[in-house]
Amino acid sequence: MSQLQQADPQVFEIIEKEVHRQNDGLELIASENFVSRPVMEAMGTPLTNKYAEGLPGKRYYGGCQFVDEVEELARERACRLFGCDWVNVQPHSGASANAAVYLAFMRPGDTFLGLDLAHGGHLTHGSPVNFSGLLYKAEYYGVEKDGPLAGRIDMDKVRTRALQVRPRMISIGASAYARDFDYKAFREIADEVGAYLWMDMAHTAGLIAAGVLSDPMPHCHVVSTTTHKTLRGPRAGMILIGKDYDNPFGKVAAKSGRVKKMSELLDSAVFPGYQGGPLMHVIASKAVAFGEALEPSFHDYARQVVDNAKAMAAALLANGYDLVSGGTDNHLMLIDLRSKGLTGKQAEQALGRAEITVNKNMVPFDTQSPFVTSGIRIGTPAMTTRGFTEEEFGQVVELMDRVLVDPGNEKVAATVKDEVRALCDRFPLYDFAVA
Ligand SMILES: Cc1ncc(COP(=O)(O)O)c(C=O)c1O
Repeated sequence: MSQLQQADPQVFEIIEKEVHRQNDGLELIASENFVSRPVMEAMGTPLTNKYAEGLPGKRYYGGCQFVDEVEELARERACRLFGCDWVNVQPHSGASANAAVYLAFMRPGDTFLGLDLAHGGHLTHGSPVNFSGLLYKAEYYGVEKDGPLAGRIDMDKVRTRALQVRPRMISIGASAYARDFDYKAFREIADEVGAYLWMDMAHTAGLIAAGVLSDPMPHCHVVSTTTHKTLRGPRAGMILIGKDYDNPFGKVAAKSGRVKKMSELLDSAVFPGYQGGPLMHVIASKAVAFGEALEPSFHDYARQVVDNAKAMAAALLANGYDLVSGGTDNHLMLIDLRSKGLTGKQAEQALGRAEITVNKNMVPFDTQSPFVTSGIRIGTPAMTTRGFTEEEFGQVVELMDRVLVDPGNEKVAATVKDEVRALCDRFPLYDFAVA
């Protein structure tokens, strides 16, 4: 980065500080990860200069022959990775991918049924401040408050709710749900009420690709994802279909009258429906990341992410912490801090002083506001990329606990911060941290 350093030292210094922050601290935010150098390099290439509206072979601009090649490669690798017929790799983010899904399946004002945001759902699943809640009628299912399914989705209740609200689409997927989903049961409910089934696997895509969580592809009409969380690619999104099918809305091709495939409707929803030109440098980077995810070592990584999360959950429980749903099946867990007399905000700040990065998070049936919350969400993908195993995650829980039992104690925070630094030094991240 020597040219940037010379040309714009101001920006360079900010980047340098962020690189140091990433290198020196414990990154426990469940939605973050560290991409490889090759994935990052592909993003910093002249492919950023190219306009390529349209699809490979069908562009609105000349000079697309090479970006066509890279998009084809990304598509082919994504299809292989998820065992699917079709993918669109152009969405700029998870939210844009989701917007295209709504555009293809729903009409403004239509009802859909998704996981309650306060129970782990995502903003794009119907928040009143998001397009999904503004343009469509959002209805929710939630998790159980107590009983044997506490913190988990009760499929009988999803069915009852679906029969009540008769949604046009049912969404699965979450930002803070530590359990796997029963896709088959969701599909049965969708079929019963005549709804389309959509899985937003933004968080778990890498774990699904590696086969360590169950596979939504055979059961869903459409699947969307981000590419930057457990999948460990660049910051972006994509949309997939397991087995392509004739669109159920009777839309036909203008000249031939042929019934269009659902994939064609989704392609049009991405462009020109929702986006303009694709980010070809990011698509190249996706191709690199999918190539990495196809390697056997990625399976080992994904397995380790889950093993680490389970080890962390066990250590937290042993230290008297309450976990929503009592544990985890995936890469994350939600700690309910009420029994410790702490809010999520206090915990996030106290841990932050020791360079342990987490995010405050509402727990189901929370009594605090979203700005305070009663919980924190933590995950293992990022530190597993750095090489942490169950042993290091045991140490992480011990370090967290020392801070959380005495959250106002600056001395404890300083000592823990030194230990965090020492632990991170043993697992180097990026070697381009300068100075
Ligand atoms: C389930 C889910 N869907 C969609 C998104 C949105 O992704 P992005 O931030 O790339 O728009 C997220 C991000 O947190 C998510 O957790």
